[in-house]
Amino acid sequence: MTSGCAGAKNLAEPLRIGDVVVDPPLVLGPMAGTTNRVYRLLCRRGGAGLVSAEMVSINALAQGNERSLRMLEVWEQERPVSMQLFGSDPKMMRETVGQAVEAGADIVDINMGCSVPKIRRNGAGVALMSEPDRAAALTAAAVESSSVPVTVKIRSGMTVDDRSYVELARRLQDAGAAAITVHWRAASQKFKGEANWEPIARVVEALDVPVIGNGDVVDPQDAPRMVRETGCDAVMIARGAWGRPWFFGQAAAALRGEPVPPDPDIAGRLGVALLHAQMLVTEIGERMAMHQMRAQLHQYVRGLPCARIFRQDANRITTLAQLRELIERHVATIRTARDDEPIDRQVYAGMA
Ligand SMILES: Cc1cc2nc3c(=O)[nH]c(=O)nc-3n(C[C@H](O)[C@H](O)[C@H](O)COP(=O)(O)O)c2cc1C
Repeated sequence: MTSGCAGAKNLAEPLRIGDVVVDPPLVLGPMAGTTNRVYRLLCRRGGAGLVSAEMVSINALAQGNERSLRMLEVWEQERPVSMQLFGSDPKMMRETVGQAVEAGADIVDINMGCSVPKIRRNGAGVALMSEPDRAAALTAAAVESSSVPVTVKIRSGMTVDDRSYVELARRLQDAGAAAITVHWRAASQKFKGEANWEPIARVVEALDVPVIGNGDVVDPQDAPRMVRETGCDAVMIARGAWGRPWFFGQAAAALRGEPVPPDPDIAGRLGVALLHAQMLVTEIGERMAMHQMRAQLHQYVRGLPCARIFRQDANRITTLAQLRELIERHVATIRTARDDEPIDRQVYAGMA
């Protein structure tokens, strides 16, 4: 692992990508099915400096697919927001990238990391990493047609021994990418493997544009550790902030070398979950929102007492009223007494 490459660097120094200021240098990673504008807003309020939307297909945009067009919708209060596109055809990228910009994207990101078979089979996502000419052409097409900065999210190659990602990152930089995000895992590792941030450090060393490090930042102190060990310019957090939108405020404190605020107590955590559900109902209606909330609720109770029982009950709810009742019952049963002011009361006051 490289060390000391961050030198006397201020770990909390805001990142600039073109005109976009990412302050603090902490990015909510894209998560399909989760990082819609409701969750993005919660994470911005929770302290993220930049939030990423779920990936959207350029093929679907080219066909005017309504669901994909809705996925591009942005709220002013969540900005800056990065909109992620996936696809493999440079011509189609040229034709559709403007739609993301018009919808309000501050940054357009290209997905070159997704290893889902359906996406790989179409030559998109991580498949582009073994086609550097196409990857560079796709990036150049987006850069030429976009009025906002274009970034690319990659993995550390197809297999653990594959080092071609460093050269690919260089080519993407030459094609005009304004920053590169590196998820340290190779495609063959899927989500497995003990964290090894060395690939991030290798890309940092090779590039002039900023590098955003990603993968397994699950404790607030992991954020400064990743910056120190790799020299990356910002940290992207996906699963670590899933069901924990306040995580960014905690990681920001860690970057500044300040005491990390405690997690909200159980009432605070489930209060944020309820707010999440209420906002989602307004967006997509009660039935769909409650269905989508199940997976989210599983995350909100991670590590809490009686999480298993809560999850079983959460799988059966179909209305917001049932969810409120479930939360009230659960909190009353296992409420933990705490004197300190929960972080959610400070951050989320007045949002509902
Ligand atoms: C449910 C889920 C959905 C994801 N969807 C996307 C996506 O749409 N685009 C993308 O580039 N990465 C996606 N990822 C990968 C994450 O952005 C991130 O790179 C990965 O989870 C490693 O970071 P983490 O350890 O902070 O979670 C997804 C991950 C998860 C768990």
